[in-house]
Amino acid sequence: MSQDKVSVSPLPVASNIVWHPHVLDRQQRETTNGHPALVIWFTGLSGSGKSTLAGALEQALFSRGIKTYLLDGDNLRHGLCSDLGFSDIDRRENIRRVGEVSKLMVDAGLVVLTAFISPNKTERQKIRDSMEAGQFIEVYVDTPLEICEARDPKGLYKKARAGELLNFTGIDAVYEAPEHPDIYLDGSQPMGSSIEKLLFVLKNDFLF
Ligand code: ADX
Repeated sequence: MSQDKVSVSPLPVASNIVWHPHVLDRQQRETTNGHPALVIWFTGLSGSGKSTLAGALEQALFSRGIKTYLLDGDNLRHGLCSDLGFSDIDRRENIRRVGEVSKLMVDAGLVVLTAFISPNKTERQKIRDSMEAGQFIEVYVDTPLEICEARDPKGLYKKARAGELLNFTGIDAVYEAPEHPDIYLDGSQPMGSSIEKLLFVLKNDFLF
């Protein structure tokens, strides 16, 4: 895939657009579902364990009757974001789209789990700012680069070190770690303990 795909439409931005209010709102859906709607936003390096953790957490929540949906970086880049590469501008657009989709899903009453590197602090903050307090839960999966690189599940670190893959996060592209994540996970710890911690914090502070 090209690293320099153009992400910005050449068409003029739409004007004369008015927000149409709907009869059914989020609160009604939350009441029917029996839980609040929110986003659990996993961020961390490639290979940090975001997708695995988000998948395991989704299963745990789903089995408790919570209405969930998981958005994953590698998967969305096959469809909604297949026109985007890994330049700084494309990553920002990728995360903007994921934020917008997440907000629609929250409006639909769901607990949305997202697993994206989302390397830019400002892009993550923009999504938080555009939501209500307590609706955006940032989970930082802090796994040292050396561990991610040793795992290298897709062989991409190896390619990046060989100079065959440019703009690779942690190698020649920046990752801005959250300073105050809502939930901090040590990615070198066993997955079971991270899931326990997630469920404990979500239960006490956010969800049940
Ligand atoms: S983000 O930076 O825009 O948030 P996203 O989470 O969607 O990234 O996609 C990251 C995944 O794409 C990685 O897990 C990896 O499998 C793959 N990938 C391919 N090229 C790169 C690259 N240059 N940097 C990081 N990840 C890459």
